[in-house]
Parts: sequence; structure tokens; C-alpha cells
Amino acid sequence: MMKARKIMRRLILFSFLIVLIGTLIACRQEQTDPRESIPTEMTIDERVAWWIDNLTIEEKAGQMIQAERSTNNGITGATPQDVKNYNLGSVLNGGGNRPSPNNVTGWQTMANIFRQASLQSSSGIPIIYGVDAVHGHNNLLNATIFPHNIGLAAANNPDLMFAIGEATAYEMAQTGMHLNFSPSIGIIQDKRWGRVYETLGEDPSVAMNLIDPYVTGLQSYNMAATAKHFIGDGYATFGTGIDGMLDRGNAVISQDDLYNFHLPKYEAAIQAGVKSIMISYSSLNNVRMHQYRMIIQTTLKQEMGFKGFVISDYEATNDVAGSNFEQKIITTVNAGIDMLMEPNRFAETYHAIIAGYNKGFISIDRINDAVSRILTVKYEIGLFDDLDLPSEDLRNENSLSIARQAVRESLVLLKNDQALPLQKSENLLVIGPGSHDIGIQSGGWTITWQGSPGKITEGTTILEGIQQQTTGQVYTSLADLDKVDKVILVLAERPAAEWFGDSPDLSLNGRTAYQENIDLLVALSAIDKPLIVIMVTGKPLLLTDYIDHIDALVMAFLPGTEGAGVADVLFSDFDFKGKLPYTYPRFLSQAADTMLKPNYNPDDYLYPFGYGLRYNNS
Ligand code: GLC
Repeated sequence: MMKARKIMRRLILFSFLIVLIGTLIACRQEQTDPRESIPTEMTIDERVAWWIDNLTIEEKAGQMIQAERSTNNGITGATPQDVKNYNLGSVLNGGGNRPSPNNVTGWQTMANIFRQASLQSSSGIPIIYGVDAVHGHNNLLNATIFPHNIGLAAANNPDLMFAIGEATAYEMAQTGMHLNFSPSIGIIQDKRWGRVYETLGEDPSVAMNLIDPYVTGLQSYNMAATAKHFIGDGYATFGTGIDGMLDRGNAVISQDDLYNFHLPKYEAAIQAGVKSIMISYSSLNNVRMHQYRMIIQTTLKQEMGFKGFVISDYEATNDVAGSNFEQKIITTVNAGIDMLMEPNRFAETYHAIIAGYNKGFISIDRINDAVSRILTVKYEIGLFDDLDLPSEDLRNENSLSIARQAVRESLVLLKNDQALPLQKSENLLVIGPGSHDIGIQSGGWTITWQGSPGKITEGTTILEGIQQQTTGQVYTSLADLDKVDKVILVLAERPAAEWFGDSPDLSLNGRTAYQENIDLLVALSAIDKPLIVIMVTGKPLLLTDYIDHIDALVMAFLPGTEGAGVADVLFSDFDFKGKLPYTYPRFLSQAADTMLKPNYNPDDYLYPFGYGLRYNNS
């Protein structure tokens, strides 16, 4: 009898173990990939609704966070393990954040490690990986770097804009990126702003002409573009920004102007299908944009019908009202921001969203709205599929041809007293800080956040472009002045980004420029041969005191890596096409004057908005 009982007990124990192991296996299978339980015939809306029904609040909070890729040089950021543990919805490489080696393979490897980590998270939802590719895939070494937007505004060519956007998306896609924090579409007022070069100038109609094709091109190759910075980023009043200057300051904009000039650009971006919109650090009529619920939730999402996701700018939550970080996050989320760009404080953000929900300060509807928008974009650009990356093909013939055309068409001829065109047989002196420097001609947001002088990536300088096309002698030293027929002086601004680029005085040797500019202008102002000045600057630096000694003046803005495009036009293989995208002030007091100013008088300025000469009407 005792033996029978012992056998029975063992049988029961064995059966229990079998059931337990079976349950554990079943659970493990459930956890491996919840997506397998989504019926494949569902529409995107139905799939998103399924996720909303099946994600935990923790998983939803994770989807609302974009952390930065952690690096070993100062960016705490998130590791792939963090992405998995917190179900993070997105990762970014901020300006200058780049893998080593900084090549296509290095980027692909980096992107894939983070994608795989997200697929291993409890939700299995893939990340969307973001980067600033504001004039080409600019963090990536040997990518094609196009002229910055201000030059593209001078060109004002919608077909070219699409081509640049598409070529940018093509080089991004090779590296596993899927979110581009571009284009910057705000109109500008005060030309002293450090981000003027990132915009499409002062005229809403130029911006309106270019936004749709640019967004459309940028959203090729499974890419999501970001219209930024919503709203009024370029209209801050000098003195209200960082360090008493402009960037991130306060914009005073009337309701009429907001609806007549500023919002229509975002309407154009929405019509073009832009997938995300980034909120501006700046304030609008003294309300921080990152807490401006009425204009984000009501105006942008409801009235304008934006269906993509709204993303905050980099750690912009810090500036939002709130007694502590949790309060700031709650305010930011409740203002209508769906994805929080919290590069380093992603864990605190995660807990703050959950705490905000648990305490009843953030509604489940707000969270579900945010997560639905994010997942919809991820489905729309194919992130739930295993996308094949285009094979490495940087600086291909098509991209370089587009970039060189963009350089040509961005040039604006402002003055020409028979000094241009150059003859290919002439002996030339080519000199100045912008004459032979890839880094300077590319400007900020190139390889590093601020950009830097030097041969920072592949490309052709303005000097090299001239050397390639001339049969005469090209000199680069003042000592050879007596050997030449003409002088080409290339003035420049120092590469800079954001508030580092604010210029209080628009001076040629001020905070953002080089003393060499003035030294050479003075040294060359009394020569007896034609002086051609080329401006490699984002801003219209003041030239009034020197303009009478200049025989020809060309605004080249920040042309990027294909500097040979400048020579194409100087030798008249192509005519000038560009028109000034902003007012060129005669005096500093005019820095904030734009063509929208009532009673705008073109004669008041050194050169008015829209000005530009041709060879046949010099
Ligand atoms: C920056 C910029 C924004 C950029 C973001 C991510 O601070 O304001 O334009 O997209 O951070 O790099």
C-alpha cells in the first residue's frame, strides 16, 4: 500500500512539472514576438488599435521616448540594452554623434544593433532611428553635402529641391536611418540669428514653393521627415535669446501674421505628408512653445489635421514650467508632444510618464494618441518589415551632379562692374578664408554639430574648382598680386550651429567671422585690378564700408562639398540664377527688416530681398 501511494505521489508531481514547463514555454513563446498574434490582413489603423489594446502602460511610455545613442565621448545616452529594457520608441544621433568607423558599414552596424535590441523588447516594436541630415547625411564622412537651405532658397527650384531631398534620403537609407530632423521651414526676420542658413529665407512664398517637393524627396526610401521648429523659431527678438542674443528667444507674432505667414508653411508640409513636426525651443508671445497646448493640440493637430507625431527638441523639456522634472514631462506631454527627445534622461522620462498616468495627471487618451501617432508612422514607412538597405553608394554621380547644380543655382550676383565673367586664360589670385576650405564652405551641421574648418570630408573647394577649369595661372598669395589680371577674395563666416552662430553685429570680423576678412579687404581695396568678392556666409554680413572698392560681388552662402559649382558660373559656363532670399542690410539697424515690413522700400537696403543680376543684365 505504502509503495502504491509513493508511486501515485510521484506521478502527480511529474504531471505538475509537465504542465508547469508547458506553461512556461507557452509564455516564452508569447513574449518572443507579440506581433505574431496580429492578424496580417489588418489595416494600419486596425493594427495600431490592436497595439493600443495590448500594450502595457510601461510599453506605451517607452514608445514615447527618443534617447540618444550613448557614446564614449560625453553622451550618456542609451545603450541597446536600455532600448530593450525600456521599450524605447526611438534613438537619435545628435549633431556630430557618429559611429567609429564613420562609414556606411559603421552606421549600418550601429543601426542594426539598436533595431535588434528593440525587437527583443517585451513589445517587440522596432525603433525609428533619427538624425539631422539638414544638407545631406551630414554626420557621415564622405556623404554628399548640399548647400545649406538658405542657398537653396536663393535657387528657388522645386525640382532641384525634390532631387536634393531624394538624394539625401538615399544616402541616409544606406545607413539604416529612418527619421530626418529636416527640413527647417520657419521664415526668418533678424538676420543676426545663428540658424538663418538652415532656413528658406524671409519670404513665405519662397518657402511655400519649396516645402512640398523637399518633404516629398526627403521622405523617399522609407524615410520620415520632420518639419521644424514649430512655430516662430526664426522670429525671436534680439536680446531675448540665449546669452542675450537671439536663438531660442521670444517671437512676437500677431494672430494675423501667424495665420497668414507662419502656419501656412506647416500646412504645406502637412499636405506634403510630413511624418513628424518638431517643436521650437523658442517662445511665442512669451509662451514657451513646448508647453503651448492650445497651438499644438488644438491648432496643429485638430484644426490643421496633422496626423504624424509631434517631437520635442533636444532636452527642451528643461525650459518648460514645472517644479521638478516629472512635472515638466507631464506639462510637455499634456501640451501635445508625442515623442520626447530626452537623450540622456530617458529613464526619468519613462518613470515620469508612468507616474503622471498613475497620479491621473496624464490621461490614457493622451498617451494613446501619442503612441498611435508614433506606431502609425512606423507602419507607414515600413519599419515593421525587414527592410533591405540600399548598398553603399555615397557621392555617386547623380548626387554630385545634383549638388553641383545646386551650388550653381544658389549663387546670387549682386554687383558686376565688368569684372565677371572670368576668362579661362586669365591669371588669377584666389585668396581669403573661404577660398580653399571644405569645412568652412560646408558650415555648421557637418561631421560635427558645429562644423569646423579644414578638410573634414571629401569635396572640392572653390579654389580647386577654379584651378580645374582655368588655363591661366592661379596664385594664392598677396605677394603674387602683380602677376594676376583679377583678384577673387572669398570672405567667410566661421562654421557654427544654433546660438553659437548668433552674430550681434553682422560684422565681417565679429563673433561668427574672421579678422582675415577685414585684413584682406583693406589690403585689396586700392588695387588697380578688378576685385571680385565671394561671400561664403550664411548671413548678410555688413559690407557697406567696402562696397565701393568691390567690382563684383557674389553671395555663395554655404555651398557644401561641391565648390566647383562656383567656378562653373564665374567662367560663365552657366549664368547666374539666384535671387536674394533675404534683405541685405545697409546698416545694422536694418538687421530685422524683411520684405513683409509695411512700406518696405528696396532702396533703403544695400540689396533688397529678391535682388539678383544676370550676365546679360549686369
Ligand atoms: C538641436 C536642434 C534641432 C535638432 C535637434 C537634434 O538642438 O535645435 O534642430 O534637430 O537638436 O539634433
